[in-house]
Amino acid sequence: MQDAYLCRMAGQKYILGIESSCDDTSAAVLKGKKVLSNVTANQSVHEIYGGVVPELASRAHQQNIVPVVDTALKKAGITASELNGIAYTRGPGLLGSLLVGGSFAKSLAQSLNIPIIGVHHMEAHILAHLIEGEGFPNPPFPFLCLTVSGGHTQIVRVNSARNFELLGETLDDAAGEAFDKAAKVMGLPYPGGPIIDQLAKEGNPKAFTFGKPKIEGLNFSFSGLKTSFLYTVQKGVKADADFIKNNKHDLAASIQSTIIEVLMKKLEKAATQTNINHIAIAGGVSANSGLRTALEARAHTKGWSTYIPPFAYCTDNGAMIGISGQLKLEAGEIGDMQESSQARWQM
Ligand code: KG4
Ligand code: ZN
Repeated sequence: MQDAYLCRMAGQKYILGIESSCDDTSAAVLKGKKVLSNVTANQSVHEIYGGVVPELASRAHQQNIVPVVDTALKKAGITASELNGIAYTRGPGLLGSLLVGGSFAKSLAQSLNIPIIGVHHMEAHILAHLIEGEGFPNPPFPFLCLTVSGGHTQIVRVNSARNFELLGETLDDAAGEAFDKAAKVMGLPYPGGPIIDQLAKEGNPKAFTFGKPKIEGLNFSFSGLKTSFLYTVQKGVKADADFIKNNKHDLAASIQSTIIEVLMKKLEKAATQTNINHIAIAGGVSANSGLRTALEARAHTKGWSTYIPPFAYCTDNGAMIGISGQLKLEAGEIGDMQESSQARWQM
């Protein structure tokens, strides 16, 4: 009994984290802040559509959720009855997708009579930085986090694991969307971000120039850049039917470097304004090799300490939901069975 109490006080609880906000069904088991397993089923069904089809995503989550959770528990070497809490993505995201993960999480928590913890997806991307035992450094508070995903682009001042200040965000498209839409224009499958990243490695980033957004303060805009890219490609194809094939590396390198430049400029501004030099990146686009290189280069010239999570914790994953659940539980923030999933949810 005393052992169990000490274990609880030390934050050594077993938490199951479930992520289902978009097109990845993911589950992870954490013991304290350490990840014991992190299992993800990606949905290839969306590839040919150039984007996520919500109805298909919900169906695929329903097919995947039980085997993914089962595998996560088995890999962690525990049974469901040993869990101390279940964290799930409550929002923001696609409502149908959120409902599958949320309903499953609540049912399991109810049957085990353990706490349920609803987690904010964007907070979770940031809190992935606080996972321990994986060999990457955890940023000290306060730190700035550039969270760049398929649905969001934000700069957040993180004062503590439970205190976030949104300094700036996109007014229209997200950075990931800009990558994905550029890829779609080039006839590449969804998600295009990783493919652009690969193609860009052999391209000239200065081959094409696109109209850059002129937004005041720390907010972003990527919709104009997307249109500028589309016009460049349309013009090129008019003159040469093989324009995309002949220029795919340069097109990818040019759009990637433009997106990165926009992101880095705002990040620099935020660092100067807040006088914070612990800088983290999170979200799917933080897997981008060009962004990682640009961040390291800025770190060198600006004297920043940078924090970049491993790939597995950049794109959507159950571990980030698990660590968020663990931290919320520590702070006494427990959810309830009546709380509903939120397609839109302010941080
Ligand atoms: O965080 P995430 O997995 O899901 C959302 O919450 O949206 O981010 C997905 C986004 C997609 O737009 C995808 O194209 C982009 O992250 N992405 C990348 C890379 N890997 C994933 N974008 C650029 N370069 C990459 N290597
Ligand atoms: Zn995400």
